[in-house]
Amino acid sequence: MRTLVTGAAGFIGSHVVEALEEAGHEVVGLDLRDGGGDVRDRAALDRVLGGVDAVVHQAAKVGLGVNVADLPDYASTNVLGTATLLAAMAGHGVERLVLASSMVVYGEGAYECAEHGGVRPGPRAEHDLARGDFEPRCPRCGLAVSPAAIGEDAPADPRNAYATTKLAQEHLAANWARETGGVAVALRYHNVYGPRMPRDTPYAGVAAIFRSALEAGRAPRVFEDGRQRRDFVHVRDVARANLAALGGLGTRAPGTLSAYNIASGEPHTVGEMAAALAGERGGPAPVTTGEYRLGDVRHIVAGPQRAAAELGFRAAIPFADGMKEFSTARLG
Ligand code: UD1
Repeated sequence: MRTLVTGAAGFIGSHVVEALEEAGHEVVGLDLRDGGGDVRDRAALDRVLGGVDAVVHQAAKVGLGVNVADLPDYASTNVLGTATLLAAMAGHGVERLVLASSMVVYGEGAYECAEHGGVRPGPRAEHDLARGDFEPRCPRCGLAVSPAAIGEDAPADPRNAYATTKLAQEHLAANWARETGGVAVALRYHNVYGPRMPRDTPYAGVAAIFRSALEAGRAPRVFEDGRQRRDFVHVRDVARANLAALGGLGTRAPGTLSAYNIASGEPHTVGEMAAALAGERGGPAPVTTGEYRLGDVRHIVAGPQRAAAELGFRAAIPFADGMKEFSTARLG
């Protein structure tokens, strides 16, 4: 099968290319970085789409962003880029798509209230964060809630520009599928880490920030109280998830988009992740600072069952092994 991978020179895209090639796919790459071209450039797309059977769309502007000045760039790269790609795919009769989406489309994770069952708290108030009260509360009674795994049917609640544009990509891909009879799978990545992860920038994920700090001899700065939970999933597992999704596209109902959590299924706190990396490198030990970012959610952990049942994907790299490798791996 001939497959176009957008963002082929990037962190996740480069691992996807390797996994596809190992499995015998013929891969065509498109990436800004190696001069191949931009997904917003229809002529560049026309040059690479000929004879392609499927597209794995990884190219995107990622991260939390700095401020509203970033909005046009997120919208342009992620929304206009995906729209241009889908239009070009329709022009070339390409009917199969795997889309890199993100758990950020959910916003805050899922919670259980002892009184009200499953609830979805809204954004945390700044005055609560400022006095070190980090846990969301039940939106109905205000009492404490406990975090639960989020399933794919949870309503979307994007809370920043990146999240909004990732959700827009899913909607555009669903529109494309319905109108062309194409088939799309959206992979909602949880916190991806591993070799070639981009270094410390305002757009970097927390694992890369901690790793960069340790490399420079600085202590990882753990925000809030360090007990916020995430699902850290290794990039080679994410690449395998793309391969699994691609392999199953031919058997799916035409005109549909389906979304899957791509996660390890074993949540950890940010404090545990900092301690694991610092331990592997022999320090400095993390410091918990109580700082907070208004756009952050408290806990977001996944239910990986649907991906296991329908894609046959299960993460294989345990947290301890992955962090050990990442503690000395090359960054991007
Ligand atoms: C991250 C990505 C998001 C991606 C998602 C799933 C960023 C900024 N966010 O979301 O784009 O879709 O994973 O792959 O890339 N923290 C610290 N110290 C720091 C920085 C962060 O303790 O120096 C904490 C934050 O307060 C937060 C947690 O680490 O509680 C995770 O932060 P981060 O990786 O930036 O964002 P996510 O919301 O998990």
